[in-house]
Amino acid sequence: MGVVSTPGLEDVTRAELDELGIRARRIAPGLLEAEVTTRQLYVATVWLRTASRVMLRIGSFEAESFIELERRAPRIDWSAHLGDGDAPAFRVTSHRSALWHTDAIAERLHGVVGRAVDPDDPDDADTPVQSFVIRVDRDTVHVSVDVAGDGLHLRPWRHRPGKAPIRPTLAAAALRLVGWDGAVPLHDPFCGSGTLLVEAALLAARRPPGGTGGFAFQHWPSFEPGTWASAKAHRPGDAPSVVPITGADRDDDALVRAAEHIEAAEVGDTTSVARAAVSDLTPDDGPGLVIANPPYGNRLAASDLRPLYQRFGTVVAERRPGWSLAVIAPDDPKLLGNLDRRLEILARFSNGGTPVVVAARGPVPG
Ligand SMILES: C[S@@+](CC[C@H](N)C(=O)[O-])C[C@H]1O[C@@H](n2cnc3c(N)ncnc32)[C@H](O)[C@@H]1O
Repeated sequence: MGVVSTPGLEDVTRAELDELGIRARRIAPGLLEAEVTTRQLYVATVWLRTASRVMLRIGSFEAESFIELERRAPRIDWSAHLGDGDAPAFRVTSHRSALWHTDAIAERLHGVVGRAVDPDDPDDADTPVQSFVIRVDRDTVHVSVDVAGDGLHLRPWRHRPGKAPIRPTLAAAALRLVGWDGAVPLHDPFCGSGTLLVEAALLAARRPPGGTGGFAFQHWPSFEPGTWASAKAHRPGDAPSVVPITGADRDDDALVRAAEHIEAAEVGDTTSVARAAVSDLTPDDGPGLVIANPPYGNRLAASDLRPLYQRFGTVVAERRPGWSLAVIAPDDPKLLGNLDRRLEILARFSNGGTPVVVAARGPVPG
């Protein structure tokens, strides 16, 4: 099994796999590999919170020309990973190979395996798509199947992510890095569309991050319903915990999105949002965790962000004395220093091209 994480966060995903009873090793930036049983494959796909893709290698063959590609591709057992009526989709990369035109490779594979869905054809709207990942390297064609069918970061509850959302997988990684597992309340004063809140609520409730339906492997002819039932029931972690998870933002549109996401994820029993600027943070002695993905300032100079970060640090220190603090913020020591000089960097990675860190001043009571 190949597991796609985020470069810089491989250890977080590896620790998560470890907790699921799966030993993995990092084989490339952002990529982990593990030998797994079918049950472990299902468990990883439904329970991993920080991974963006789970893949299964199903074969490889050599091809230096389109003729070889078309002659050898039928050796792969594609049909074992295509349900009745499923259409294949190919995500192709090529390096150091005679076959380099990725669209042409995909077109030839469609000729062998099955036609592509047409996004403009209404008749295709309901056709389930099974993605295959094709990596051509030094004239060897490596074929993997995307076990979930699509990226795991595409959480089903997340209909309207909004302007500057954090990827749910990165939000989950930040929660893991600071060690929050639902033992104490959580507050996000820059909640935007509520990604950190919903990820936290699902984690605390010990519910899977993307639900339990709609995975591609459930259509495969080899699908094992009994094994799947046992994988779904695998509840990692301790008993579910019920703590208040709250968010605030000063933008009404963001709050509407957050409320929709909370409702879609069915976490409204623990999770709520309210309109407030960070300066209006309500006092609470704690314990708890303030965690946020404050504005990055892609459109602002870092110097313009400093007063906001400074204000954020001051109100948390004054009004939430017993709370830990964590941020997913630009990798800018001065800006982080404006927020709180005691912040420690726990991880570095890129978020949509911006170098960012998870930084925290803890510890988070567990
Ligand atoms: C980077 S976005 C957060 C995105 C969020 N994590 C998500 O996944 O949607 C920053 C948010 O901070 C909000 N914001 C900016 N300044 C604020 C302030 N002074 N007080 C409260 N919210 C503020 C913005 O409206 C925006 O929604």
